[in-house]
Amino acid sequence: MSSFVVLGAQWGDEGKGKMTDYLAETAEMVVRFQGGNNAGHTVEVGDKQYKLHLIPSGILYDNKVNIIGNGVVLDPEALFNEIEYLEGLGVKVTPEKLLISDRAQLIMPYHKVLDGLKEKKRGKNDIGTTGKGIGPCYTDKMERSGIRVCDLLEEDTFKEKLQDALEIKNPFITDVLGGEAFDFDEICEKYLNFAKKIRPFVTDTSVKVYDSIKASKKVLFEGAQGTLLDIDYGTYPFVTSSNTIAGGVCTGGGIGPTMVNSAIGIAKAYTTRVGKGPFPTELEDEMGAWLRDKGQEFGVTTGRARRCGWLDLVILKSSARVSGLTSFAVTKIDTLAGLDKIKVCVGYDLNGEVIDYFPASLKKLAQCKPIYEEFDGWDESIKDATTYEELPSNAKKYLKKIEEFTGVKVAIVSVGPKRNQTIRISDI
Ligand code: GDP
Ligand code: IMO
Ligand code: MG
Repeated sequence: MSSFVVLGAQWGDEGKGKMTDYLAETAEMVVRFQGGNNAGHTVEVGDKQYKLHLIPSGILYDNKVNIIGNGVVLDPEALFNEIEYLEGLGVKVTPEKLLISDRAQLIMPYHKVLDGLKEKKRGKNDIGTTGKGIGPCYTDKMERSGIRVCDLLEEDTFKEKLQDALEIKNPFITDVLGGEAFDFDEICEKYLNFAKKIRPFVTDTSVKVYDSIKASKKVLFEGAQGTLLDIDYGTYPFVTSSNTIAGGVCTGGGIGPTMVNSAIGIAKAYTTRVGKGPFPTELEDEMGAWLRDKGQEFGVTTGRARRCGWLDLVILKSSARVSGLTSFAVTKIDTLAGLDKIKVCVGYDLNGEVIDYFPASLKKLAQCKPIYEEFDGWDESIKDATTYEELPSNAKKYLKKIEEFTGVKVAIVSVGPKRNQTIRISDI
């Protein structure tokens, strides 16, 4: 048995797309198990750049099976746009290469509108969502009024569920949130057209994933977002609406915990966050702007500038714990090249007490002052390194610190966005 998870260890955008693409080379199946097209995963292969939102990054290979699992919230419009985008770049997306769970929840047009209207209603306390309808769709799933892919394939079931949904959504949208009502016939026509197109891709993906693992095929679970955006362990309510941590693989991929062998946390060599919410090591000064410029820190899905700050080892330690990480892949270490000194957060001062865990209370978190350790920097040569030995000695010290603090080895270091700009230090 050989299956492993690739997870974001911070607030997303750590380079999961790049690492999934790199690690998928030896895998036969790549599975998305949570989130939706709020994700933006960038993969560079040769001189081409691909931006994936909903479809697993393994799609860029001709010979991998890619799965959109039951835990994903699927916007059919976004799906077919992404398929068109990929085919325009010469990537084939066939039912042999892409399988969609019949249990995945559908993002409906009213979810997207509700996302925007609720954000507006929150005013200055908005979350800064991607506006893709993620929260409202997961809300309906848990409230048990969601519409699933299998429902879309049964015209009468779909119509019945849509009718029921609109009876509640429309008055809420118009009377409470001041929006416009949705027309049943319009949605029906649009979605029943999607039904025809989606049918060949739909199956019970849990069976496919299980069979692959049982047949000793390598299965890679590609996480979206990151630990601190997890609905339970993130900076609630400034989080996304799914379990982004390793536990999400079981519920969202349809397999048991005994079938997952390892979990790799993808950690950027510094910290970024897009959207609102607490961020203890944020740099709202020239240093933060320098990181944003050098690292090209702009959101793939919304184009928003990412907030930037120093590496926070308290976060990585929490990620290691809640996901049982077996290794880290540290990305974008090349971005830090050229700095004389680099700071790393090794604990928080919470009203005089030193803590090394991430508090649940946002009030307490706001009182946490990062405690920094300073490291000597390294030069630009790091982006050409191909082995661990070639890394500058100060970069090695930086990586050692991550290992010491978290108790988890750094197995991979990424020194650039391309597949071959990846250094394998040890087995994952
Ligand atoms: P994801 O959401 O975790 O897949 O990450 P994003 O694609 O949103 O953001 C990561 C960005 O960093 C993308 O533009 C990648 O091409 C880029 N990237 C990934 N790894 C590296 C690296 O090691 N060095 C540099 N310079 N860029 C990287
Ligand atoms: P990848 O997979 C970074 C953030 C949004 C917002 C919060 C809630 O590319 O790492 P949502 O639309 O999910 O309800 O928004 O979560 N967010 C992400 N931030 N990377 C992502 O995905 C994200 N997906 C959602 O900015 O703060
Ligand atoms: Mg991203």
